[in-house]
Amino acid sequence: MARINDHFLKLKAGYLFPEIGRRVNAFCEENPDAKVIRLGIGDVTEPLPPAITEAMHKAIDEMADRSTFRGYGPEQGYDFLRTAIADNDYQARGVNVKADEIFISDGSKCDTGNIIDIFGQDNKVAVTDPVYPVYVDTNVMAGRTGEASSSGQYSGLVYLPVTAENDFTPELPSESVDLIYLCYPNNPTGTVATKETLKKWVDYAREKEAIILFDAAYEAYIRNPDIPHSIYEIPGARDVAIEFRSFSKNAGFTGTRCAFTVVPKDLKGRAADGELVDIHPLWNRRHSTKFNGVPYVIQRGAEAAYSPAGKAQINELVRFYLENASLLRKGLEAVGIDVYGGVDAPYVWLKTPRGLTSWEFFDRLLQQAHLVGTPGSGFGASGEGYFRLSAFNSRENVEEAVKRFQKVVS
Ligand code: MLT
Repeated sequence: MARINDHFLKLKAGYLFPEIGRRVNAFCEENPDAKVIRLGIGDVTEPLPPAITEAMHKAIDEMADRSTFRGYGPEQGYDFLRTAIADNDYQARGVNVKADEIFISDGSKCDTGNIIDIFGQDNKVAVTDPVYPVYVDTNVMAGRTGEASSSGQYSGLVYLPVTAENDFTPELPSESVDLIYLCYPNNPTGTVATKETLKKWVDYAREKEAIILFDAAYEAYIRNPDIPHSIYEIPGARDVAIEFRSFSKNAGFTGTRCAFTVVPKDLKGRAADGELVDIHPLWNRRHSTKFNGVPYVIQRGAEAAYSPAGKAQINELVRFYLENASLLRKGLEAVGIDVYGGVDAPYVWLKTPRGLTSWEFFDRLLQQAHLVGTPGSGFGASGEGYFRLSAFNSRENVEEAVKRFQKVVS
């Protein structure tokens, strides 16, 4: 009989968001008239900006015509999109990233999960706690951890707590680590990293020959001019970091799927015999073997995100969600809740009231206010006693959610 990958059996019951979905669906079945407002998963609600859909329509027409039809595209992505990204997201900001260092993909979730294919089994992996669950679960699947403890932490991983006590800034690990996942603006806490914080990590990685896996999917939400948008704004980062970015949360591509990963040509790792090896060709090999590229129509849509109209429309979308975050923050603070994040990020992170656990608070909000959020403990042991609200929703729903929230906690 075929053997399974036993490491999957170590995974906690369900991926966090499907588990929330299961509980919410059960509630809705029992309470069919309840008007549930979902501020759980960070999924966008507003339609794609017109500059993007116009470009997609045009690309569809090209696909309908024999003379402009395209079959397989380059696995790494079309040059028109890689160049637009390099020019606008990096070179225009004085950051040295070239088009051929950019790999177009179908999502940062996929890329942050897939990247570990190119790293050896015996790497020591560090994650913040709380953390976006994909970084942990994919390492569990790959067999890079032992079993989970009762608090949900896997042996073999190094957890770096980020709580109100340390101002949500992870300390450098006391033991040497080889791969470090950092996500800024942070999911789930909605906090950001200063230049000094990122420099501390880049210096650490350079000293230890570690690699930083930098998830910048929420970069567009940074409004504070002093906060870096890319890890490559930090001198020396090209030698030690891979950066992940996405069109999901800025341009609304959660349903249409387009993202990219930057693997600088300067980045190296060591082979088992100690030889220094370039990482870029390894990722190129992995990507072109297991992935066949993002559809042409979608890449044309993503390219339009960089047109003058596209930029203005995206800026407006991000501004809209940030205003939602601000309404949530103010509404919660008004009833005495401790609130973090939500200023340069679409997530508001709060301390649960009256010492309730994260899941107790989840159930109370669902039952009494028909509101869905995400329990902090679902993101890691140090998230216990915290709760996340997503600002991705209509204005009407956010305003209504604030009213209901206030009723439950006051
Ligand atoms: C979240 O809610 O944390 C996000 O939706 C996760 C994701 O983008 O995959």
